Amino acid sequence: MLIKKPEDLRYSEITPRPVYLNRRRFLAGLPVALAGGRELLSPIRARAAGGRFANLVKSPFSTTEKPNSLNDVTHYNNFYEFGTGKDQPAKLAQKFKPGPDWRVSVEGAVAKPRKFALDELVALAPMEERIYRHRCVEAWSIVVPWVGYSLSVLLKQAQPTAKAQYVAFESYYSSSMMLSSEQAGIEFPYVEGLRLDEAMHPLAMLTFGMYGDSLPPQDGAPVRLTVPWKYGFKSIKSLVKIKLVEKQPASTWNLTNSREYGFYSNVNPQVDHPRWSQASERRLGEFFKRPTQMFNGYGNDVASLYNGMDLKKNY
Ligand code: MTE
Repeated sequence: MLIKKPEDLRYSEITPRPVYLNRRRFLAGLPVALAGGRELLSPIRARAAGGRFANLVKSPFSTTEKPNSLNDVTHYNNFYEFGTGKDQPAKLAQKFKPGPDWRVSVEGAVAKPRKFALDELVALAPMEERIYRHRCVEAWSIVVPWVGYSLSVLLKQAQPTAKAQYVAFESYYSSSMMLSSEQAGIEFPYVEGLRLDEAMHPLAMLTFGMYGDSLPPQDGAPVRLTVPWKYGFKSIKSLVKIKLVEKQPASTWNLTNSREYGFYSNVNPQVDHPRWSQASERRLGEFFKRPTQMFNGYGNDVASLYNGMDLKKNY
């Protein structure tokens, strides 16, 4: 079997429309930018000419830590629909090619339910590059330059009603292309949830790309969530449904083993997983462990969401 090397992968094959859309925007802006002078040739804009996301805005939420390599981030994944081993999604997800007919339904307790096409989602807000720490419950971490914008932008479009207290998320599932629930050991489709105020927090990100390009299939193409202060399993991949609901929704790992995986799953070095410590973590590619930070280092931004809450009980 021929396995494509990462440098052979053309992400533009996977989600061409958002890339083309940005490319068109890039070309439309060309005369103005040219008139504005040399800044046109900034690295991000120049790369856009090759079919990548154009006009990426640098985010104030970015960490200054060094990102992992693209190779690291695309070859050590959890995506159970495509295998339970960390190296399997990179191989088995390549046949998954979400096209321009992809839709994300925003529904439930909203005044304006709507199915969004991918290019509509891409056009909703300027694309930001946000370099986030990404901490997995299995005590490894990576640093990734994601591309996207705050989930709140999309939720506001739908206008949540007073009944909306939580947000339920659902991944795409195809039994012909993906593992069965029996094979993976978890129920499909993969589901996740956030409280509405968590989902509206600007750090919660609707993510369309990484390293300036569209998301590769194993990282959750064409659109996923990134919630950097929570364990990685809250960051649901390949999103098709977002439902505003009144009651706390189900989440896949909580359904699988509620003693080990709670609804909140905030990164917390003081609350161990029943089978291992969460006090430290290994950054992918590094030998020595580093201490884990409360809320994965995003405490200044998000701790107030949990004022008065017992974080040992609400793990
Ligand atoms: N989303 C879906 N649909 N299926 C999954 O198996 N795994 C989760 C999360 N989102 C998962 C998912 C887990 S356990 C982690 S740690 C992160 O994706 C991994 O994201 P990454 O592969 O981009 O690092």
